Amino acid sequence: MLTKILPALRGLMADQQNLPRLRRVDPTGREPVVSLTPGCADVLAELRPQVPAGARRVTFVAQGTYEAEFSAGQGRAAGKIAVVTGAAQGFGFEIAAALANQGAWVALADINVDGVNAAAAKINAACGREAAVGVAVNVADIDSLKAALEQVVAAFGGVDLFVANAGVLRAGSVKDLSVKDLDFVTNVNYKGYFLSVQAVAPIMALQHQALPDVWFDIVQINSKSGLVGSNKNGAYAGSKFGGIGLTQSFAMELVEDGIKVNSICPGNFYDGPLWSDPQRGLFRQYLDSGKVPGAKSFEDVKRFYESKVPMRRGCTTPDVMKAIYYLMEQSYETGQAIPVTGGQVMLS
Ligand SMILES: NC(=O)c1ccc[n+]([C@@H]2O[C@H](COP(=O)([O-])OP(=O)(O)OC[C@H]3O[C@@H](n4cnc5c(N)ncnc54)[C@H](O)[C@@H]3O)[C@@H](O)[C@H]2O)c1
Repeated sequence: MLTKILPALRGLMADQQNLPRLRRVDPTGREPVVSLTPGCADVLAELRPQVPAGARRVTFVAQGTYEAEFSAGQGRAAGKIAVVTGAAQGFGFEIAAALANQGAWVALADINVDGVNAAAAKINAACGREAAVGVAVNVADIDSLKAALEQVVAAFGGVDLFVANAGVLRAGSVKDLSVKDLDFVTNVNYKGYFLSVQAVAPIMALQHQALPDVWFDIVQINSKSGLVGSNKNGAYAGSKFGGIGLTQSFAMELVEDGIKVNSICPGNFYDGPLWSDPQRGLFRQYLDSGKVPGAKSFEDVKRFYESKVPMRRGCTTPDVMKAIYYLMEQSYETGQAIPVTGGQVMLS
């Protein structure tokens, strides 16, 4: 319900092109009171005449009182409301932390509920403000996504940036990868991205309808394996190639709703748990499976992969953040897949 109301209210309470965060507060009794008729088909048309110009607090019948809070910060993401999926650890956590550090309100969404709550608390402690909330989500389930976004909107009022980062990997040859593993990878990486966009796009569209000059961003964290094949890793590479097809298609379709849709394709992120977890990480898996000929240690596996990169190192979150800020700040680009690979993948 809130996802159908607060994004519109947020647009109507904007200060010119500057969208506020909405915070639930106790009513004073002096706020304008607004309501919608049951089954209302055009929320904005009904709300517009009820919200006085310059209103900073509004009571919505049966939903509570909301106050507009504008950011006074100077960061590159100041005042933006961001959702990052798969944010309990790895790239997702570091992206969420970087956005909060640059002034954003951030919802960290993950299937690992304890992990994501701890991650949000860590960000709040580091920022010294309540910048982050943790939200449970399974991106492969549309009902779970809708419930998570309802929580995000209740906390912040809308969504400006959605980072579709949740992703999983099961390496293995086409000759013997199980159907179970194929489904697992496809459900999270491909279907999960599709459903994430299906769930968040209406929120952004409502904001754009209220403020037609303001645009919003969906950024998928793809992979270099979405641009070139990956040996004995076809399920993952296929799901990521498919993600770029979705990005291009969504970009065409959602342009009318003021939504830019782009992918970022990072190279290997060796510092994250996906690679470096001592028991289950890729260094361990590749060492044990003999995927790297002659490798006797994690260092040998790392050197083998680094040698494929002209810049001779792995990708880091600061490298990825530069691409995210480029996409947010660039008003004339959509449907792209941007490599951040140290030259390992070059576009033709
Ligand atoms: N690590 C790399 O080398 C690398 C390189 C390029 C791209 N990527 C991509 O970056 C993204 C993040 O990778 P990472 O290395 O940080 O991974 P990670 O395994 O460290 O973290 C992934 C997070 O996603 C969460 N998650 C898994 N399934 C989920 C689901 N169904 N719903 C919600 N959350 C779910 C996990 O709980 C975890 O917190 C992925 O899309 C990955 O494909 C990673």
